[in-house]
Amino acid sequence: MYKRQFQHSIIKNCVNLAKYPLTLPGDSAWNDTIDGIRQDLAREGCAILSSFILPEALVRLEAESSAMAINAYYRTEMVNAYNIDINTVLPRWHPGNLTMERGNAFVARDQIPSTAIIQQLYTNPLFQSFIADCFQLKRVHELADPFSGLVLNVIAPGKEHPWHFDTNEFTVSLLTQSPEAGGLFEYCPHAHPHSSGRALQRRQRCSQGLT
Ligand SMILES: [Fe+2]
Repeated sequence: MYKRQFQHSIIKNCVNLAKYPLTLPGDSAWNDTIDGIRQDLAREGCAILSSFILPEALVRLEAESSAMAINAYYRTEMVNAYNIDINTVLPRWHPGNLTMERGNAFVARDQIPSTAIIQQLYTNPLFQSFIADCFQLKRVHELADPFSGLVLNVIAPGKEHPWHFDTNEFTVSLLTQSPEAGGLFEYCPHAHPHSSGRALQRRQRCSQGLT
């Protein structure tokens, strides 16, 4: 009983339950929300859950993230969207020839306090059930890797996390701090690293910022 209340308190204190009823799994409101997210995922391959975090929790989220950022691992590198050696010999037309500077830093999971909102959400059964249902999965599991299961991305002014293909089945990103300017998040629907033809050309145009 205590554990259940604790699970609920984290969610109630942080999540906009009027829009995302995480405490009511299987309820009609839950199903309606999940249906909408699934439709976005089916159409675009991406769903944006706007105003997911309550405004008061957002202030705490930002403060926690800023405090953690001092432990970030910084290493600027030249990369391509495929995260393969940039010296790999590729056909001239291949988008992998386009190199970009990766300037984002990381705070690994072992450096994120257990009390932090992102750590509590990541381990919360209600949040996990919600995420699993969005992706039509029975359940999701925490990554056993103590470092990369949960990562705080730190992008300093003027730096960027350039175009890349995620290699995992799906990704859940939470914006912890609004930028003062810029901060554009770009996503290219239906682009697959092994596809060809129009999708490949489209990906190349995206890499070059041509949409
Ligand atoms: Fe990614």
